[in-house]
Amino acid sequence: MRRETLDLIGCPACMAYALVLEQAHERELIYGNDQVSEIEQGTAVCRSCDARYPIEGYVLSFAARLAPGIRADGAYWGEFYSRLYDHGITGFLDTRSQPAPYLSMGVPQTLPFDGEEWGGIHVQLAEHRWVRPGGRIVDVGVGSGWSSLFLARRGFEVIAFDPALELMQLAKRYAISQGVFLEYVCADMANFGLRPESVDAVFALHSLHHVPDLEDGIGRVHRMLKPGGCLALDDHFQDVLMLDLLRSALIQDAEERIFPALRDPRLRQDPQTNHSENEGVGMGQVLPAIERYLHIDQVDYRHIGLDFVGPLFYLEQGCKPEALQYATQVTDLIKRAMKRAWHDQVEYMTLVAQKRAELPTETRYSPGPQDPSTALHKRIAAQEQELQRLHAVVAEKNAHIQRIERLLERIENGRLMRLLRWAGGR
Ligand SMILES: C[S@@+](CC[C@H](N)C(=O)[O-])C[C@H]1O[C@@H](n2cnc3c(N)ncnc32)[C@H](O)[C@@H]1O
Repeated sequence: MRRETLDLIGCPACMAYALVLEQAHERELIYGNDQVSEIEQGTAVCRSCDARYPIEGYVLSFAARLAPGIRADGAYWGEFYSRLYDHGITGFLDTRSQPAPYLSMGVPQTLPFDGEEWGGIHVQLAEHRWVRPGGRIVDVGVGSGWSSLFLARRGFEVIAFDPALELMQLAKRYAISQGVFLEYVCADMANFGLRPESVDAVFALHSLHHVPDLEDGIGRVHRMLKPGGCLALDDHFQDVLMLDLLRSALIQDAEERIFPALRDPRLRQDPQTNHSENEGVGMGQVLPAIERYLHIDQVDYRHIGLDFVGPLFYLEQGCKPEALQYATQVTDLIKRAMKRAWHDQVEYMTLVAQKRAELPTETRYSPGPQDPSTALHKRIAAQEQELQRLHAVVAEKNAHIQRIERLLERIENGRLMRLLRWAGGR
């Protein structure tokens, strides 16, 4: 981390911009033709409130301030990605490495791509007319760091953060090995802030639905953005019951027919789960929170339920590139039709939202499309839960009645005995 970056970052305890270095071990690192002096180890101290934060492996850490749920969420991703890295798999942290879409299921097979790096929505966002070329970008919940590395290679100045400390240190080590300078900080949304109006764009890829208090989070984004700056976002918008079922069926089929021959058991998560602690806590809040502070350009929604089909067919057909191309074309065709026929059942959203002099005065996009079957399912689940609660109440009342009956019986028996004794005494 550079000394200059510390000057931009707010103290999470008192919100002052007063962090200074105490005991620092600095190193000169070479990035292409540039030499950068960075703090490898040290302590950042707040001149305003005396709070102290460690810098380790070039990463400033606010880990001690993380709430338990957020710490657990970060630990899940840290454990998952670090394990892959230890097995020499880098497809998840670099757009120049081949992606391996089934790593979480223990299958290391990768997908080929054309050109120097694989593209996607991150490219569209980086090229959006509101994203200033070469500007300063903050990357929220960056995970393994692939998006920030991609942005830094494109000439942006990037400061990325995530609650997973080991991931931030891993991402920094990897960026150094690639000769790319960028900053990583261990923090969550509630503990990260740069000086007001110092940032050109904030990127948030698949991270905001993990953030509990989004109203506060987007307020922070709004404060650090320059006027005219923007939030570029791609995120999970809603769970769609039918598509979840379809995806499960596809994976179950692959588990039986395709994966067993390809699986590397060392990669499999243990216990096997695809959910981190805070998965989905902010879902449903993202659009309303954004529209309170920022002006949305437009929202593009998409179905992702069929994204598995192309890669699965590729594996099933013995990794032939033509198979991937064919299945991808067919699924793209179906996805286009789904967009027209099932516009309420979209799962992901992409948008760019701008900071302007005035806050928005109306909501144009939230709450957004709602999948009726998922809503119905949620209502049924809530009613089933209520039914279970009522059953428990009835069972408790019945037990109580039985206790009273036994008591009455005992009283009755006692009275009878007294009567008999009295009768015997006569
Ligand atoms: C699904 S991963 C996405 C990672 C990365 N952006 C990507 O696209 O691969 C969600 C990330 O959000 C991070 N996260 C969880 N809670 C967060 C919070 N409160 N603030 C910021 N990031 C958070 C997690 O540690 C995790 O790395």
